[in-house]
Amino acid sequence: MKTVVITGAASGMGLSATKLFLAKGWKVMMADFNQEAGKKTADELATRYSKKQVAFHKTNVADSSSVKELKNATAKFFGVADSIINNAGIFTKGALHEVSEENWDRIMAVDVKSIYLMTKYFVPDMIKQKAGTIVNTASISGLTGDYNMAAYNAAKGAVVNLVRAMA
Ligand SMILES: NC(=O)c1ccc[n+]([C@@H]2O[C@H](COP(=O)([O-])OP(=O)(O)OC[C@H]3O[C@@H](n4cnc5c(N)ncnc54)[C@H](O)[C@@H]3O)[C@@H](O)[C@H]2O)c1
Repeated sequence: MKTVVITGAASGMGLSATKLFLAKGWKVMMADFNQEAGKKTADELATRYSKKQVAFHKTNVADSSSVKELKNATAKFFGVADSIINNAGIFTKGALHEVSEENWDRIMAVDVKSIYLMTKYFVPDMIKQKAGTIVNTASISGLTGDYNMAAYNAAKGAVVNLVRAMA
């Protein structure tokens, strides 16, 4: 049984991916900042599948020590991760001059730095086992400029080129 770590797994596309992987027989480590929703959902899914197949770990993907803890918790619970899905992402509106510095830093940290941190901590074991896959969720907004979405366009554009570099 293979293991996947999915960030932003408490809702939206991360949760959909979690359900899909469980249905395909994978073990899933759900990682999300939202402990309430994530833990509740993981408990429900564990009842449907098995406590050995799904777990939740509260994680801030923008924080180095939190991602390191996620890696250690995954290793302890499931072993080496075969796949990571860097899906957690946030959005902020506004023309560039309207975006607060705080929001700029936050979106770059959650949408872009998170991919660096997840890769930094999870890839060494994948290299050792000579197998592993990484999925980074970008957006069509990473390929074009949208109206009033400057920071998001910049962040997702960075993700698109980061994928090229990682490949
Ligand atoms: N929804 C869309 O239309 C759309 C389109 C293109 C790309 N995307 C991208 O797809 C991804 C998922 O989008 P979604 O619509 O499912 O989003 P969503 O808001 O439903 O889910 C995002 C999840 O990420 C979690 N999260 C936020 N900050 C976090 C952090 N610092 N650490 C850990 N978890 C954190 C949230 O708690 C939430 O559960 C995002 O990267 C988003 O930018 C979404």
